[in-house]
Amino acid sequence: MSEAGQPNEAARPAQANGSLLRTEELVAGYLPEADILNGVSIRVAEGEIVTIVGPNGAGKSTLIKTIFGLLHPRQGRILFREEEISGRKPHMITRLGLSYVPQLDNVFPTLSVEENLEMGSLERDRTREQIDYMCELFPRLGERRGQAAGTMSGGERQMVAMARALMADPQALLLDEPSAGLAPAFVDAIFEKVEDINRAGVTIVMVEQNARRALAMSDRGYVLDLGRDRFEGPGRELLADPKVAELYLGGTARIDQAQTQG
Ligand SMILES: Nc1ncnc2c1ncn2[C@@H]1O[C@H](COP(=O)(O)OP(=O)(O)OP(=O)(O)O)[C@@H](O)[C@H]1O
Ligand SMILES: [Mg+2]
Repeated sequence: MSEAGQPNEAARPAQANGSLLRTEELVAGYLPEADILNGVSIRVAEGEIVTIVGPNGAGKSTLIKTIFGLLHPRQGRILFREEEISGRKPHMITRLGLSYVPQLDNVFPTLSVEENLEMGSLERDRTREQIDYMCELFPRLGERRGQAAGTMSGGERQMVAMARALMADPQALLLDEPSAGLAPAFVDAIFEKVEDINRAGVTIVMVEQNARRALAMSDRGYVLDLGRDRFEGPGRELLADPKVAELYLGGTARIDQAQTQG
């Protein structure tokens, strides 16, 4: 996202086949003998919001961490802007335009809001201007620039973490459970911010427990289970699919409710 909130098209040409990020049959795990991802293939087009849902332990965070280079894939490939990034280090992936907000512990608690944001900048001569832009995007942070991030509320900390990731001026953002642990009012605020960020030109790949809500605002979604992508489709189609609802959304499809919420 550029300062004006528009993606820099000249520097970042659209991909020929329309996919900005994709994984091909990704296999990864933490311990030598145990694969957590058993062949995951997802694709994300430029400008989309794509949500990954699935039961606890399905491998959602593992997938995001593997894409961001925190875990090396054992098999398969990860392509960002048609460049293979499998095995690259996170700081190199950030430089290519892909940023990540972890599920938990995602701020430097003793540093101020402003210092947290500074840590995310890749261009020293633009840091000030970028911080000002983040404070416009997240007015709450603007009011609390000097406050230690660890003393902010859960929702505010989530905003600090998202703003820090955006300081790198990413083309795409990986968000692991942005609404985790938040009170309903903050869940609304965070989802609105995710939509604002997307409208400003940033492609979003997010994992969410709040599956109905997240799918309703997504262009497409994936259901991950036992380390495999089981279902794929437009967010609202997944919500309306009785099998997906039964197995992964806790009951029968309630598209009407999701639509009024979304
Ligand atoms: N650092 C680790 N070392 C060993 N195993 C791990 C590690 N992190 C996660 N796992 C295991 O990998 C599996 C998938 O975990 P992961 O965190 O990807 O699930 P998830 O889908 O994000 O779940 P949740 O919805 O609870 O966040 C789990 O069985 C988990 O215990
Ligand atoms: Mg997780």
